[in-house]
Amino acid sequence: MTKKIIVLPGDGIGAEIIGSAQEVLEKVAEIYGHQFEFEQHDIGGAAYDKYGEPLTDATVDACLNADAILLGAIGGPKYDTLPTAVRPEQGLLKIRKALNLYANIRPIKGFVPLLHASPLKESVISGSDIYVVRELTGGLYFGTPRERREDGNVVVDTLLYHRNEIERIVEKGFESARLRNKHLTSVDKANVLESSRMWREIVEEKKADYPDVTVEHMLVDSAAMKLITNPTHFDVIVTENLFGDILSDEGSVLTGSIGMLPSASLSDSIGLYEPIHGSAPDIAGKGIANPLGMILSAAMMLRYSFGLNKEAEVIELAVEQSLEAGFYTADLDIKNGKKVGTKEMTEEVIRHIR
Ligand code: IPM
Ligand code: MG
Repeated sequence: MTKKIIVLPGDGIGAEIIGSAQEVLEKVAEIYGHQFEFEQHDIGGAAYDKYGEPLTDATVDACLNADAILLGAIGGPKYDTLPTAVRPEQGLLKIRKALNLYANIRPIKGFVPLLHASPLKESVISGSDIYVVRELTGGLYFGTPRERREDGNVVVDTLLYHRNEIERIVEKGFESARLRNKHLTSVDKANVLESSRMWREIVEEKKADYPDVTVEHMLVDSAAMKLITNPTHFDVIVTENLFGDILSDEGSVLTGSIGMLPSASLSDSIGLYEPIHGSAPDIAGKGIANPLGMILSAAMMLRYSFGLNKEAEVIELAVEQSLEAGFYTADLDIKNGKKVGTKEMTEEVIRHIR
């Protein structure tokens, strides 16, 4: 198959690891007879440096006309003093909104050779396999008004949801659970927030359509605790934008390193794939970044956007085998293993694909 992929390296280590994903995809294309055409554009600080804005409309148009999008990471200390409107993060928020990428899928599954690298006890995390379905285009991130008032001494942010926005993500949660272990945890703060009360009502309405799925409601504070005390309790978690942002970072400690985790952000027609980690300015430019979250994001792209399940599995298996062979990057640790840089780690994965 022939597919056009927009590549958005972004900032910091994003620019270093995106090439790893491309190399892995080239290898897969060669073996399975596909053609992936890559077209690179800027986002985040890199776009600001060139165009004075973190995401141009031309880049949005290119994305709208592509088959899928790969993104590295955005942000860096250099941009911290910029006005909010042109900060790198705005590029990410703009692309999510412009492409209507409302469903953010963040699978949290540890690889066995890395379990000991987690600060949590192996006996607690062993067997955990969680799939976070985070709402991505609503809630506190996008609601208006958001402003300072009364000489800057009063602030307001707005948590806004329309019924249909909650319905579609809740459906995504149920559908995901149906394809997995059929257990859905809907996370909210219904003891305080009106938006959470509507969220709960909608989950209750929808559950009749999914009789094969068991569903429970959990308050976000309690979910945050349970996630690290009893992670095997969870299968699919569906939650609001900000709660999902926080819980998915928390969940990443189960896997030993946030550098391992991929994500997909999906609309009804297109997907954007990125590792959940950031641009890691402290290690940028050193060639030591972990490319595995990025490579696993490319695997998610093959599966979700192109339906290439076999090819996706081959990549995931190659990552696992590379770790089993003892290769690890600076953010990880494998006893008696071999610490390598981005380039060698990528080569090792490609070697296993071959
Ligand atoms: C993420 C990030 C973003 C978010 C930031 C960079 C805007 O933390 O993708 O989780 O909060 O959504
Ligand atoms: Mg985050």
